[in-house]
Parts: sequence; structure tokens; C-alpha cells
Amino acid sequence: MSEVHVHRVQPAWKKNALIDNDTYLKWYADSVKNPDKFWGKHGKRIDWFKPYSKVKNTSFDGKVSIKWFEDGETNVSWNCIDRHLKKRGDQTAIIWEGDNPYDDRKITYNELYAHVCRLANVMKKHGVKKGDRVTIYMPMIPEAAYAMLACTRIGAIHSVVFGGFSPDALAGRIDDCKSTFVITADEGVRGGKPIPLKENTDKAIEIAAKAGTKVEKVVVVRRTGGKTGWVAGRDVWYHDEVATVKAECKPEKMKAEDPLFILYTSGSTGKPKGVLHTTAGYLVYVSMTHQHVFDYHDGDIYWCTADVGWVTGHSYIVYGPLANGATTLMFEGVPNYPSHSRFWEVVDKHKVNIFYTAPTALRALMGAGDAHVAKTSRKSLRVLGTVGEPINPEAWEWYFNVVGSGKVPIVDTWWQTETGGILITPLPGATHLKAGSATRPFFGVKPQLVDGDGKVLEGVASGNLCIADSWPGQMRTVYGDHERFVQTYFSTYKGKYFTGDGCRRDADGYYWITGRVDDVINVSGHRMGTAEVESALVSHEKVSEAAVVGYPHDIKGQGIYCYVTLMAGEKPSEELRKELVAHVRKDIGAIATPDKIQFAPGLPKTRSGKIMRRILRKIAEDDFSALGDTSTLADPAVVDDLVANRQNKR
Ligand code: WT7
Repeated sequence: MSEVHVHRVQPAWKKNALIDNDTYLKWYADSVKNPDKFWGKHGKRIDWFKPYSKVKNTSFDGKVSIKWFEDGETNVSWNCIDRHLKKRGDQTAIIWEGDNPYDDRKITYNELYAHVCRLANVMKKHGVKKGDRVTIYMPMIPEAAYAMLACTRIGAIHSVVFGGFSPDALAGRIDDCKSTFVITADEGVRGGKPIPLKENTDKAIEIAAKAGTKVEKVVVVRRTGGKTGWVAGRDVWYHDEVATVKAECKPEKMKAEDPLFILYTSGSTGKPKGVLHTTAGYLVYVSMTHQHVFDYHDGDIYWCTADVGWVTGHSYIVYGPLANGATTLMFEGVPNYPSHSRFWEVVDKHKVNIFYTAPTALRALMGAGDAHVAKTSRKSLRVLGTVGEPINPEAWEWYFNVVGSGKVPIVDTWWQTETGGILITPLPGATHLKAGSATRPFFGVKPQLVDGDGKVLEGVASGNLCIADSWPGQMRTVYGDHERFVQTYFSTYKGKYFTGDGCRRDADGYYWITGRVDDVINVSGHRMGTAEVESALVSHEKVSEAAVVGYPHDIKGQGIYCYVTLMAGEKPSEELRKELVAHVRKDIGAIATPDKIQFAPGLPKTRSGKIMRRILRKIAEDDFSALGDTSTLADPAVVDDLVANRQNKR
């Protein structure tokens, strides 16, 4: 690995950093040697109604049971708001930067308290109780954070659904957790274009009703004033409702392991899983990682560009930063509107110190040229971060040299919806950086590389990434399906959490994530099950069979490549191709838009009928020189047709 350029910790990064390398090594050793002692101490970073006496009670064997701080009692919104009021009631909690650069708002902790209490009271007034599921389908506006925090205040479990998902996808998520209360907005706005959230909600509610879940109440935030349908008795305006209730609401005393939220995520099989996170361990872990990974100091302005519809938005826009009393910026817009300078203009406008984004955005901005960056100052920046997918060294070096002017450390943070918070990452004042490596484990995290037979590999090695023991932020179960939880994460390698990622460890003990080893693809940092896209395709009346794979894409990381076999008598055409693309978008949402559709008279199958995806991946990559052994195929001739009609010819 001698050719890798190491960016050593600069004196300026170390100067006021919370953790230097010696501290990292000591804390890490302590954390894995005695997790009870380590987390017993750090659990005190949040406030408790009733202190815990037990710390860790976890097992990755058998039925799998994960409990942290189990006899303690606390409340998430109380930790994110109330405890800060004395010291920082007038400090800005949320900076909202609208899609339109002339639109912004600042919400202080005092104001946040009042907004959250009012909405919590509205929910109570309509009968929402502890343990009920509330669906949040919102644009990136402060009310989305109020809604999440209001749920936690009364012990309701929120399920935030990304605003880019279709009515069908929203309906599936409403029905899966039997959620009868929805919070949405009339419309969202991104890049100057409206997004019909209420209209989608209305459609979703009809679909969910047919599946057996009847939504009773819809609270609608007026964002644009655009026209929407209205169901009297069911739909109420947010602004009307909050005016009828008090601005005070006592936080519910929650047990440490009471559910906090459900977040649906794609896997290699079946429909999306409801990842369940619980109260105390999650909050301890996200606040701890937010502080140390970003070297967060009191007074810093912190901006994570994710959407609250994804776990990054949950953990590192809302819960981690607010638990730490930070000022967190919520951005409604997109990186290229009104121009490709938008991110850096916002950094200058609000004097952002810590900036956290996705490699796909960086690659797109890099392609637009350095001039868009150079015209801004960015001198407030102290830490840069990335998340969501592997970052290619070119994009990393561009981020470092052009955005950070060679002076700002980059934390490449590896984690997952399931992990709740960051697991593998540099710490700015402690870790020498290598472009493209997530570097070393966070405190309490024990990564292992395992080969196909389950053998643990030591030293320099490549294998499947597992985590050997529990950390407080870990998901506890799949909502309503614990068996699926055990099957998905703990059955491949007994006694270990299997991440689904491939990974390499170098001579310095640094981890390099190489991407998913299952049938999950990562499109612009969004996780997509190929099975979901396949099932959308085969639900079209003209499609008899479909197989979907990822292929390398310059901007998106991976693109979506679909092989489609038509029903007898149907003819391939450009028109049908467009129809299929539209069909998938309608079924799942724009994030699942197929990039390539290849009409295939047959798919490569083994004699037992299993589709050989390895071959399909190679053809999609235009790398059919290395197709490997095709002699086990039922009909080797199909491969010739697939190669001849491939859509990614160089
Ligand atoms: C998958 C998880 C974690 C929040 C956003 C995505 C990939 C994530 C990195 C990184 C390489 C990464 C992995 C992982 N991934 N971060 N820094 N380097 N790969 O959450 O939707 O649950 O996806 O994203 O493949 O398994 P998610």
C-alpha cells in the first residue's frame, strides 16, 4: 500500500481537538476490553429520569437479544431540548436554509421547545398514545424535526418516509407498521420544483386502506400554499391545530429499550424491512459519535446535507446534534440550484464549521468545475465528512484540496441504517487519513473480516465485514418480525452481525469498504434492493421476467441495469422502454429510475433455474471477457444474445 498518499494529522487539526491519537488508542482499548465500564461512564452524557444500574446485556447467539442501560428511564426530546434551555435557550438550535436562497429561518432552543410541545399536544388531543406509530412524510423543513421530536416526547414511534418515495411505497410503509396518524405538508420544493406530498399521501392512504390500515388523521403543514385535496374530518392544518393547544407538554418517562423509531430500508430479498431503534442506547451512541467524529465544539455551526427521510438525517441532523446542544442546519434544496456554488455559498452565509455530505454530490460538483468552489471563501470550515458509499480517491482529493484548500480533515464515515450511528471513521485530531479509507473503528466497535467459510481473517486481508459484539446504537429488531432480523444479520456467520459489505484491512489496520456483497445496490448513496426493482418490473403486464444488477456509474456510484424478458407476443420498443421506466418510478419513486433496460429473450440460468447474476453484472459492466464458466448454464446461447445487445458498450 506504499503508493497510497497519507494525509497526516496537521498541527492545526490537533490544536483544540477533543481526541488525539494516544487518547484514541487508550479509549478504544478500554472500550473493547470492558464495554460495561466504558459505556457505563459514557451513558451519563445524557440525562436520566431514573439512572441505570445495568449497562450491557446483549447476545448475538440463538434468538439474539440486545439491551443497553435496560433499567434506566429517559426521554429523547427532553435530552435534545429541555436540558439545554437554561444555558442556551436563546441559542439557535436549527438554521433552516430554504430551496430559495432568499428563504431562511432560525429557531432557538426556546422556540424549538414550544413548537415540539405544541405538536405533541396536538397528537395527544387526537388520541396518539405511547407505542403508537406515526408516519412522517415531509420536506426538509423544521416541522419535520418538530414532528420527530414531538413523537419522542409522548413515546410514539415515528416512521419517517423519504419525500421522494411514491404513494405505493408510502402505503406499504404505513400498512407494515399499522400507522393511523400521518404528518405531511401540502407540497415540498426542491430545485424550484414542487413535490406533491399531500396528493401522494391521499393516494397512499387509499392504497393502505385496501391493504387493511385505515389512516384516521392527517396533519398538513402549509409549505407552498399549493392546491391539495381535502378530506373533512380526516385532514387538519398544522397551523390551525397548534394554535389550539398549550406550548408545554411533559415528556413521557421512557424505558431505555422502549422503541424510538422505525426506518424502512432495502435488503437483498423481499420488501423493505422496518429497522427498529430504541431510546437510550441510540441517543448515547449518536451524541457520542456526533461529538467525537466531527470534533464538535460548543458554538460550532454544523451542517449535514442529508434528508431526514434517511438514517443520516435522523442521527446526524436531528438527534446527535440536538442532544449535544448544537446548531444544526437543515437544507431544503439541492446542490446545483440555483447554481453549482450553492453548498459553498450556504457555508459562507451561515459560517458553517462542520460539513457532512455524500460522495455522489461531490462527484457531481467536481464535474461542474472548480470555479464554482473557488469563488467562495469556505474559511469557516474546520471538518469535512462523507457518508453513504465508498468515496473514490479522486473525489476525496478534490474535496480535500479544492473544497478544504488542503487544510481541513475529511472524516469518511462508514455505517448503516441498522447500525444507528457511525462505526468506522477517522477522528479529526487523531487519525492520519488515506483517501478512500474509512480508517479505524469507533470506540466499542469490533470489526472482523470473515471469509466465505466463516473463518476470521487476521492482519492484512479482504473479506466480508462483520461486527463481533454489540454497540449501544445498534438496531434491536425488524419491526414485527424478529425472525427476519436474526435470519438477515446473524445467520450467515453465527454469533456475529453481518453487514453485507465487503472490506479490506491494510497493514496499518485501516478498513477499506469495497461495497455490498449481497443483492443490494447503492445508487447516489441510496440503498436499493435489486429484488424490489425486479418486482416493480414484473408487475407490468407486458413483462414476464426481470433481473436487475448494479454497474459502475461516474456520478451515482452505481447505476440500475435491468434485463427484461417480455411476455410472448410483446415486441421491444423505445416506447415500451420509457413505459417501464415510468412504471418503476411510479411503483417505488424517482430514486429507483432504471438507467438501462435491456430486452432479453432469455436470462442466463442454471439447470435448477437460478439466475446467474455474476454473468449479468459482467455484461452490464461491459466486461464480458471475464464471464467465467458458462458451461453450467441451461442454455449457454442466451449469453451471446445478451452480449450482442448490451446497453453499456464502450
Ligand atoms: C450501506 C448502508 C449510513 C448512512 C447512509 C447509508 C454503504 C455507507 C459508507 C462509507 C463505503 C459506505 C455501505 C453500507 N456505505 N457509508 N463511508 N464508505 N460505503 O445508509 O442506506 O443503510 O446504507 O452504505 O455499503 O452497507 P444505508
